[in-house]
Amino acid sequence: MSITLTIDGHETTVPDGTTILEAVRQMGGDVPVICYHDATTANGLCRICVVDVNGGRLLQPACVALCQPGANVETRSERVERSRRTILEMLNSTVDLSQAPEIQAMMAEYQADTDRFPGAERREFPVYDDNPFYVRDYSQCVLCWRCVQVCAEDAQYTFALTLDERGFHTHVSTAFDISLTDSPCVFCGQCIGVCPTGALKPKIEYGLEQGWSPDDIRRSTRKPRRRQPANEET
Ligand code: SF4
Ligand code: FES
Repeated sequence: MSITLTIDGHETTVPDGTTILEAVRQMGGDVPVICYHDATTANGLCRICVVDVNGGRLLQPACVALCQPGANVETRSERVERSRRTILEMLNSTVDLSQAPEIQAMMAEYQADTDRFPGAERREFPVYDDNPFYVRDYSQCVLCWRCVQVCAEDAQYTFALTLDERGFHTHVSTAFDISLTDSPCVFCGQCIGVCPTGALKPKIEYGLEQGWSPDDIRRSTRKPRRRQPANEET
């Protein structure tokens, strides 16, 4: 079955089950996303993709809201832009977004005020450097869940990552906060590939940013080889 609706003044017809985000993209437009990624299941977490549907009381997240027959959708109304701007300002007030270029571009586009909430408590965590491959800095994490999802049913079926604690203190973690090397992690790198910020990064990149010497980087990213006893050498 097909559905006809109007998006930003243009009528369009899409198959039943199409999300508003998909419909907008099919028309050549776009809606900003943070928690959504084409490789992960949409969960409607960040709300940056909200759009106005029929002037309803609540804005709808385009990544999960389905197209409805006869709907009138506005993706850039003043109300939509104000909502996106506030979300960006709140994110910026608590999370280190210095290594999140896509979100920074959104902040410029929506003219987000970087000083809107000067007294906000920052979400700060120690840097996890517990394995030779990745470094995790959850002070830069926007809790989009993408890493948790690709580690689970959306890609890898490894389930090494989960969410810990509640509310403001919610953060990505391994089960019982064990090190990645003790977890089921297979170091596939899928989590790094979908992370929209600098929260997850390869250790070599992290070392270069920190000014580590090539020897330091080599030492921290390789396990020393066991020297074979003389009588085992061939
Ligand atoms: S670590 Fe990155 S991918 Fe994982 S939830 Fe945080 S921002 Fe999203
Ligand atoms: S991208 Fe739609 S809610 Fe995050």
